[in-house]
Amino acid sequence: MSAVTKKTKRITIPDIRNAKGKQPIVCLTAYTVLTARWLDDHTDLLLVGDSLGMVIYGMENTLGVTLDMMIAHAQAVMRGSRKSCIIVDMPFGSYEESPKKAFRNAARLLSQSGASGIKIEGGVEMAETIEYLTKRGIPVMGHVGLMPQSVQAMGGFKAQGGSDDEARQILEDAKAVEAAGAFSLVIEGTVEPVARKITQSVSIPTIGIGASAACDGQILVTEDLVGLFIDFTPRFVKRYALLGEQIEASAKAYAEDVRTGKFPGDEHLFGMKKVD
Ligand code: KIV
Repeated sequence: MSAVTKKTKRITIPDIRNAKGKQPIVCLTAYTVLTARWLDDHTDLLLVGDSLGMVIYGMENTLGVTLDMMIAHAQAVMRGSRKSCIIVDMPFGSYEESPKKAFRNAARLLSQSGASGIKIEGGVEMAETIEYLTKRGIPVMGHVGLMPQSVQAMGGFKAQGGSDDEARQILEDAKAVEAAGAFSLVIEGTVEPVARKITQSVSIPTIGIGASAACDGQILVTEDLVGLFIDFTPRFVKRYALLGEQIEASAKAYAEDVRTGKFPGDEHLFGMKKVD
């Protein structure tokens, strides 16, 4: 486990912004204190993503995630990390209505969690809100291409940018997010030539998920990476471990030991003090 007690300076928003073109930016999702502890030594940025609705709570999509859920998980990730820059997703319904509502909710999220910034989905249509937030001191990470909060409107989780019209729209979205003051931009589920063009066209770092190595950094959902979430495996996921299988094998061995009386053994017992 990482030495979270070590005194380490946390990576800042300007550090992330300035990394473009210098070194690939390593990002993963984290929802809990334990995951944050294991990841923190190795990542530049941890995203408390609203994917937690599906991954942790078993929801069908991210639309049911609330601001209170995001605050609680962001607090846990802050407690478990010392070094990575922590960014938190604004959940569906907490920012789209108006820039003022977005500010109120983003300010609550940051002040109650201590995280460094927020992420919101949307391009041209969210530019006014992003500008309102960034001008008032709230660092914003944008998110274009496949936007899970619009999964109903998009007709499912489908790769984006395959047609000329889609490609043009995503590039326009990315430029609008940059012009509005975002410090970085997630590009999700987008074809390689479009992700490459965006990365070359904007001055802020692009973080890809299913958007190719052309991006300035990469992010994956940690539970996909370690084989804990196996409901479906998108093509862009590389699995580095099979923790789900190890958990199941541990539970099976434990059940066997309990049923056959092998656990607890003598070494797990508390002794009694001798009394005269
Ligand atoms: O919610 C999330 O985890 C995300 C990442 C996959 C980018 O938005």
